[in-house]
Amino acid sequence: MSILIKNGRVVTAESDYVADVYIEGETISAIGRDLSYPADQVIDATDKLVMPGGIDPHVHLDMPFMGTYSSDDYETGTRAALHGGTTMVIDFILQTQGDTLYNALRTWQEKSKKAIGDYSYHIAVTDFNDEVAKEVVQMIEKEGIISFKTFMAYKGALMIDDGQMVQLMKVVKAHGGIVTVHATNGDMIDSLIAKHRAEGKLSPLYHYRSQPEVTEAEASGRFADMLHYTGCPGYIVHMTCEGALNAVRRATLRNQKVFVETCSQYLVLDASLYSQDDGAKWVMSPPLREKKDQTALWSGINQGLVQVVGTDHCPFMWEQKQMGKDDFSKIPNGHPAIEHRMELVFSEGVKTGKISLNKYVEVTSTNAAKIFGMYPRKGTIAIGADADILVFDPNKKHTVSAKTHHMNVDYSAYEGWELTGKTETVLLRGKVAIQNEKCHLKAGHGQFIRRGKTSLVM
Ligand code: URP
Ligand code: ZN
Ligand code: ZN
Repeated sequence: MSILIKNGRVVTAESDYVADVYIEGETISAIGRDLSYPADQVIDATDKLVMPGGIDPHVHLDMPFMGTYSSDDYETGTRAALHGGTTMVIDFILQTQGDTLYNALRTWQEKSKKAIGDYSYHIAVTDFNDEVAKEVVQMIEKEGIISFKTFMAYKGALMIDDGQMVQLMKVVKAHGGIVTVHATNGDMIDSLIAKHRAEGKLSPLYHYRSQPEVTEAEASGRFADMLHYTGCPGYIVHMTCEGALNAVRRATLRNQKVFVETCSQYLVLDASLYSQDDGAKWVMSPPLREKKDQTALWSGINQGLVQVVGTDHCPFMWEQKQMGKDDFSKIPNGHPAIEHRMELVFSEGVKTGKISLNKYVEVTSTNAAKIFGMYPRKGTIAIGADADILVFDPNKKHTVSAKTHHMNVDYSAYEGWELTGKTETVLLRGKVAIQNEKCHLKAGHGQFIRRGKTSLVM
């Protein structure tokens, strides 16, 4: 099978030019002007952007959490991702406390058999000991899974203590992996939740008030300190606020690099939503913040302090959200976003002039591929790279709605938003995945992507 994409504006993290892209089998085999190779299919990309498929390194598919499961599984979740231009996701495997990493891996391998898009896993280490340390080494060296997620919150379910964190970092560093973190101070948050509940303050607003900025800033600084002490590469997931960003900025003063991910919602939504009757839709951890934090995050992207924009996609049906209708602490945390990240960041970031087109590609695709050991197979348009390609109409306007989205969730967190810029055609490893708003690939097409060492230079 061969495909010729004609006359598009090819944009990567470092270049921007008009060219044709020729694909044979699963990879890109030629890039140039006026290519005339024979092709089974020709795609006219005149006036369109031709970019690397999006990589979302933070999604939770079919995940057991807070007494229920996130509502998108590998089939619906990766299909929705493809509709929005994201060709690969990295999901989280959760170790059950007291159990092995390998048992968790097997559970997730079963779940992911029906993936349509490509995927990999981060392994959340929720219980660290000598046996788990050996498994960490096997994950890196045998399984091609090099990133380990830790939680500094959700005590009793997912949280590890600082002693375990430092031990894990030492093992991961020695074997060329990377430690990622949900950086919030779990003890402070738990005591604020208890206080608000005791005072009868039970609405979604108190989810927000139980996780003030300092809880994230403190934990981000502590994580950076532990990385500095151990020399381990590290990555802070879903950063939301100026205080946490400043903790990473301070770490640069001792010549340290800590990778940072924010998520599309923290760039475009703010905490005023928690005062609405349907505030539970945006209950996620950490919570949405203030406008000044959006400004800090956009600046952080341009300053190179924030390298990645993911989603933390963790959708729940409205009925699931109702589990917490009388108590914010029982609302399953998370919101649906996997489908709209590429279009939201383009519309709110590139179209408004906040970030350049090259920066857009960098934060939505290339940097995740580099940090998580997949570059240059993924995250760029180059000869020999996987033909994961997004053909994007930069001027098309469209309206987001639960009536038309493809995620398995019955509301949209962006209902009625008018966006400029739309996914038109998506290729995954040389196959047409999305065209004419239809998905042309079947469950099982998605491949597990083995990963190599992290690239520490961005
Ligand atoms: O609210 C969130 N973020 N839900 C998913 C779990 C996590 O903390 O990432
Ligand atoms: Zn988290
Ligand atoms: Zn998450």
